[in-house]
Amino acid sequence: MAKRIINFNPGPAALPLPVLEEIREEFLDFKGSGMSVIEISHRSKPFEETLNQAVERTKKLLNLGDEFHVVFIQGGASLQFAMIPMNLALEGKPVDYINTGTWSTKAIKEAKLMGKEVRVIASSEDKNFSYIPKSFQVDEKASYLHFTSNNTIKGTQWAEFPKAGSVPLVCDMSSDILSRPFDAKPFGLIYAGAQKNIGPAGSAMVIIRKDLLDRVPDSMPSMLKYTTFTGQNSLYNTPACFVIYTVSLVLKWLDETIGGLEKMAEINQKKADILYGFMDGSGFYRGTAEKESRSLMNVTFRLPSEELEAKFVAEASKAGLGGLKGHRSVGGCRASMYNAIGLDEIKELVDFMADFQKKEG
Ligand SMILES: Cc1ncc(COP(=O)(O)O)c(C=O)c1O
Repeated sequence: MAKRIINFNPGPAALPLPVLEEIREEFLDFKGSGMSVIEISHRSKPFEETLNQAVERTKKLLNLGDEFHVVFIQGGASLQFAMIPMNLALEGKPVDYINTGTWSTKAIKEAKLMGKEVRVIASSEDKNFSYIPKSFQVDEKASYLHFTSNNTIKGTQWAEFPKAGSVPLVCDMSSDILSRPFDAKPFGLIYAGAQKNIGPAGSAMVIIRKDLLDRVPDSMPSMLKYTTFTGQNSLYNTPACFVIYTVSLVLKWLDETIGGLEKMAEINQKKADILYGFMDGSGFYRGTAEKESRSLMNVTFRLPSEELEAKFVAEASKAGLGGLKGHRSVGGCRASMYNAIGLDEIKELVDFMADFQKKEG
């Protein structure tokens, strides 16, 4: 087998090797069924068990009470940008957003397209989204307050979540879900495209507080209503079976091998300390996010010139370190280090960066 690269891609992204091995192991015979998971009925007992395990494990890891549903909805995080205002905006109550980058901007655009009264109560656009806004006024009259917990492209992350009193928080956690523990109580809805921290592309995980389901209007297509998914345990139509199956294995790994979210958060913090610590001391690699807003998941940085950046990415790739190019909209470099990237892999990256600087700095 060809040597696997160390995968710093932003998503689809690295998954834990033991999970990939487990998938390979049981691929032709899923739970003794004599079929693979992509051939078996989504209504079969083995598949339903897997789906239920994914749901239960999410609840356990995030310490979610019975007031929450966990569902899987096709269409990725991008469909959630539209479903949220369609389902959760209350008559005469505006929807509030905090704009921290490309993905929040898209969420805001979709809410406007849905004809809702959208208020952007804070934004970091003035400094190219390089920080997380600190001061903003939450209005109790809002239907909800939407924010993006981790900004995959700009490399910033909320260290502490905004406080919104009785207004339910709605959060795009696509690029840091299950990377650290948090208190879910203030949240009305949390969503994440699966293809970064928890699985392959093809579905979003959506966690929704049951009382918010009362807001879902009747007159909408079934596939766009949260109640369709919560009422039928994500099995109204054929779900993305392979995604759900992989998510269930990733969550098992997170729970049983890593030891839960406290442990995961400790590892993620160590990884970030090593990489940012090295960069800050280098005088060569420059982080683009303000220090206190830095993301533990996506580390965005520049080298002294664009030529050196291109060379850095190309040579890293030759050395087996993939996916280090920044997003096409911002340039520069980015190392995405989701849960599946371990400490040793960050050390290898830092060694490579030090060598490159010695040669080119
Ligand atoms: C924070 C965030 N939100 C939303 C998206 C869009 O996700 P999807 O491709 O699942 O629609 C991404 C994708 O990179 C993302 O990073």
